[in-house]
Amino acid sequence: MTRPRADSYSIAVLPGDGIGHEVMGPAIEVVDLVAEHQGFSVDWTTYPWSCGFYHEHGVMMPDDGIDQLADHDAIFLGAVGDPSLPDHLSLWGLLIPIRRAFQQYINLRPALLLPGVVSPLRDTSRGIDILVVRENSEGEYSEVGGRVFPGTPDEFAVQEAIFSRRGTERAIEYAVSLAQKRQKRVVSATKSNGIIHSMTFWDEVFHDVMARHPEIEGRLMHVDALAARFVSHPHDLDVVVGSNLFGDILTDIGAVIVGSMGMAPSANLNPTGEFPSMFEPVHGSAPDIAGQGIANPIGQIWSAAMMLEHLGRPEAHDVIMTAIHHVLGETDMRTPDLGGTATTTEVADAVRTAVRHALTVEAA
Ligand code: NAI
Ligand code: MG
Repeated sequence: MTRPRADSYSIAVLPGDGIGHEVMGPAIEVVDLVAEHQGFSVDWTTYPWSCGFYHEHGVMMPDDGIDQLADHDAIFLGAVGDPSLPDHLSLWGLLIPIRRAFQQYINLRPALLLPGVVSPLRDTSRGIDILVVRENSEGEYSEVGGRVFPGTPDEFAVQEAIFSRRGTERAIEYAVSLAQKRQKRVVSATKSNGIIHSMTFWDEVFHDVMARHPEIEGRLMHVDALAARFVSHPHDLDVVVGSNLFGDILTDIGAVIVGSMGMAPSANLNPTGEFPSMFEPVHGSAPDIAGQGIANPIGQIWSAAMMLEHLGRPEAHDVIMTAIHHVLGETDMRTPDLGGTATTTEVADAVRTAVRHALTVEAA
């Protein structure tokens, strides 16, 4: 569900760490430009919660962090993570609490090959346009479990995965609702041959949901075979639905086959609209290139476009996407991850120029 249209939106900004900072500014500038021309405004409030914040305060966000975010219309995130802190601390200290507190139980991740972008796959003549729905609030990402006999040779770890009927059903139903507007095909990632309790349950729920939607062609595929399918037959895939872990893995494959990790956008959605949704690129803080000014800003800018669409501004989304299409399809302005030599700022400037052009055409 998109939010009702307003004249002004209040957005919480979490730039995070590493390249999160570098791609956030350019994305905000693009949104402000579009807003100014399309008659709305965005009020950005920046929160410094990150690994840097952790080193100062011993926590990823303050105790009332969730309350502070709750009043915003949406949350716009860069990326968190730094080699100086174990990744599970940054993930469980910030992102997972946000996703859960705000019931952002759908993680929507398009893998769309844009014109002018070279895929590492040899033949993309039939295009790539996959929409992955990742279950975002339960599954394998669970705090249930523990360690027994720590520090002894008998030490062992137990990690439980949680699959509820409600959580599984709503993810699959959401995938169906998207497929209805596309090619009416849903592939569900499973592994019920090996994971015999939770994945057979997942399959059962999938069959139940599909029985209610005879117009949709539903198919179960083991996640290993499906991962291979992303590489061998990406053009055959329409909507893909998977658990928290399977969806995460498949969308990294989705991101690289459409050109680069730096391009892929994502939305953590609270479909009921009761709480703010969160928009962030699929990529992380990329410590290997942080500080060099060469991060691809397109994943962040595309995520902003998804945010505007969710906020009831589809025309703002469309202008930004037209601009991204133009820059990639008609110019050679691209960052090194796409084989170019441009900087983050140069690509962002090119997107803004293309936005201005698209807005002029729109106004004419
Ligand atoms: P990563 O996505 O940060 O980097 C993977 C590879 O893709 C690197 O070679 C990187 O240079 C490249 N890359 C990523 N984004 C790019 C961009 N915009 N432009 C050009 N190249 C780009 O994933 P990695 O290395 O596994 O994780 C690094 C840190 O980020 C870790 O601390 C991890 O926990 C965190 N992370 C955070 C996420 C989030 O905030 N949602 C998501 C994924 C990882
Ligand atoms: Mg990931």
